[in-house]
Order: sequence, then C-alpha cells, then structure tokens
Amino acid sequence: MKGKNCLIFGGSGQIGRHLIRKLTKNDYRVTVVTRNIHQKGHIIKTQGNAGYIDIIEANIFDEIRIKSLFERADICINLIGILYEKKKNSFKNIHTLFPSLLAKLSKQYNLKHFIHISALGINEAKDSDYARSKLEGEKEILKNFPLSTILRPSIVYSVDDNFTTSFMTLLNRLPVFPLYYSGKTKFMPIHSSDLVDIIYNVISKNIYSQIIECVGPETLSFKEIIEKLLNLIDKRRILLPMPLIFGKLTAKFFQLFPKPLLTEDQLRLLKYDNISSGKYKTNTDIGFPAKYLFEKEVEKYCYMWKQGGEYSKKNFY
Ligand SMILES: NC(=O)c1ccc[n+]([C@@H]2O[C@H](COP(=O)([O-])OP(=O)(O)OC[C@H]3O[C@@H](n4cnc5c(N)ncnc54)[C@H](OP(=O)(O)O)[C@@H]3O)[C@@H](O)[C@H]2O)c1
Repeated sequence: MKGKNCLIFGGSGQIGRHLIRKLTKNDYRVTVVTRNIHQKGHIIKTQGNAGYIDIIEANIFDEIRIKSLFERADICINLIGILYEKKKNSFKNIHTLFPSLLAKLSKQYNLKHFIHISALGINEAKDSDYARSKLEGEKEILKNFPLSTILRPSIVYSVDDNFTTSFMTLLNRLPVFPLYYSGKTKFMPIHSSDLVDIIYNVISKNIYSQIIECVGPETLSFKEIIEKLLNLIDKRRILLPMPLIFGKLTAKFFQLFPKPLLTEDQLRLLKYDNISSGKYKTNTDIGFPAKYLFEKEVEKYCYMWKQGGEYSKKNFY
C-alpha cells in the first residue's frame, strides 16, 4: 500500500535526488517533473524502488499541463532554481511566476502541503536580481496559499552538489585561487541529507511554519571553506584577495559562457553573509537541528580530487 502522492518539481537536482530517496523509502509515492526525460530519466528513476516513482516530461511554462498534474497530488514540492539567467529561464519566470502558479494550484486543489525552497539572506541582498526574484516569489506564494512552507537554506552540499565538487576541481587545477571580499563572507553550510530530513519532517509531522531558515551546525567564512577543501585534497594554493574591480571584470568575462563560473549578480550576492538572520525560525527552533559537519562529510567523497584518486582513500586496503 503506497502512501501519499508527492508532486516534485526539480527532482533531478542535488536536493531532489536525496529527497526522492528519503520519501520513497518512507512509503511516499512521487511524481517527478523534468524538462528532459532522456537526460534526467535514469537519474530520477534510480533513486527509489520501482513502482514508487513516476516521471513526467513537461514544460513548466505549459500551465494547462502543469495544472493536470495536481489532480492526483497530495503534496507539492518545488526545488526548481537557477543561478544565472538564460533566455526564458529568467529569475522572474523561475523564482517568482512559476512558484506563484504552484501555490495557486496547491490552493485550488486543496493540497495538504506546498513546500518551496527559497534561499537564505534574500532580505538583505537587495541589489541581487536572484535574491529579489526569490523574495518576490515568497510573497506571491504566501499570498496564494498561506499554508505553504518556505525553506531558506544556506549553501547546500553533498557529493551531488555543484559547490564543493566544482571548487575542488578548480583548486586542483589553479595555482592561485581568488578570494572575493577577502573571503570574509560567512556561510552555515547544510548537508543535503539534513535539508531533506527537514522537508520530510515538515510533511510527516504536518508542520506549517511559513518561513524556516535551514542552516548547518557551523559558521564558516568563504576562506575557511576553501582552506578546509584544500586541506582535504592535500593541496597548497595561493589564496589571493581579489580587488572588487578585478572581480567585476572576471565576472563580466565569465558570464559570457553558456555555464558561467561566476556572474556579476552572484558577485553582488557574495557580499552578504549567508547565515541565520534571527528574524525567522530556524530548523533548530522547530526541533530538527542539522547533524552533519562540513569537513567530516566532504572527507567521504573528496578522494577523487586527491593524488591517487580512489587509491588515496584511508580505508582502501
Ligand atoms: N544548492 C544550494 O546550495 C542552494 C542554496 C540555497 C537555495 N537553493 C535552492 O534549492 C533549490 C534546489 O537546489 P539544487 O541544489 O537541488 O539545484 P540543482 O541541483 O541546480 O537542480 C535544479 C533543478 O531545477 C530544474 N530546473 C532548472 N531550470 C528549469 C526549468 N526551466 N524548467 C524545469 N526545471 C528546471 C532542474 O531540472 P531538470 O534539468 O531535470 O529539468 C533541476 O532538477 C533551488 O531552488 C535553489 O535555488 C539551493
């Protein structure tokens, strides 16, 4: 006998994969919507036992199709997010208009939960288009479906991320690594499993807290994060504080690429600390403190960036 039906948008991403595993193991049935079933189908399908996962290929801007997916849903979870804009994938479309539509449909179809993943620090980062679009999205969601739960995570990491894995690749290759804002910006990194546990608890314990800031157990500066990664992969690199003017020039250059390493908007966002604000409840306040420590967790998968690759693992022999 299968449990409730969860309709998940963005299930092929880092958080989505962990979430599908958690939900299906706990008897929830999931319907995952993706843009490209050929590219993402195998990633999604292999996260849970057969029979628990349905995959739908759909364009999220096709309102009629999206609406039809709500007919069988009890819970909707939105994990779709972008870090840079590309044609119709604008911050406004992805972070404001689409979540607003999902909240409206959640209300119309009387769903038990609508959970939306926003981001930490968006009230402060007023000069970032990313942050403004996320904040606008939150307002629209709460207007359309006040029972919604909005989770605002700090930076999320795991073996499937684009954060620690990309930085370890860059640190491996570059002799000098730039530190924007002298590397002083603070983060409270949260492991993807901890975040997924919070989502699971919100659903299974019927928590309706509106906005919850989701943070890990440690506060680390950007420089400390990079130093920890260097230490884990056994590399020595020059960490160079980058004057802002050069930062802006490099961002201008990088954002010309199809998958930019850094954009001007990300550079503006990086100016603001990404830590709990004290203005909203955190995961600890609602009884779900994060368990995983950054260095200990990254140690489990950093070996591929070390000299010797898998043979460098301590427990290999
Ligand atoms: N990772 C972090 O550090 C972090 C921190 C704060 C907030 N968040 C937020 O948490 C959410 C999930 O993050 P994540 O790390 O799991 O992201 P991710 O790994 O980059 O995955 C993003 C997902 O969004 C989907 N997507 C992007 N553009 C889309 C479009 N135009 N139409 C349909 N789907 C689209 C992708 O789906 P397909 O390619 O399968 O279609 C993918 O499954 C996002 O909203 C993000 O802003 C993440």
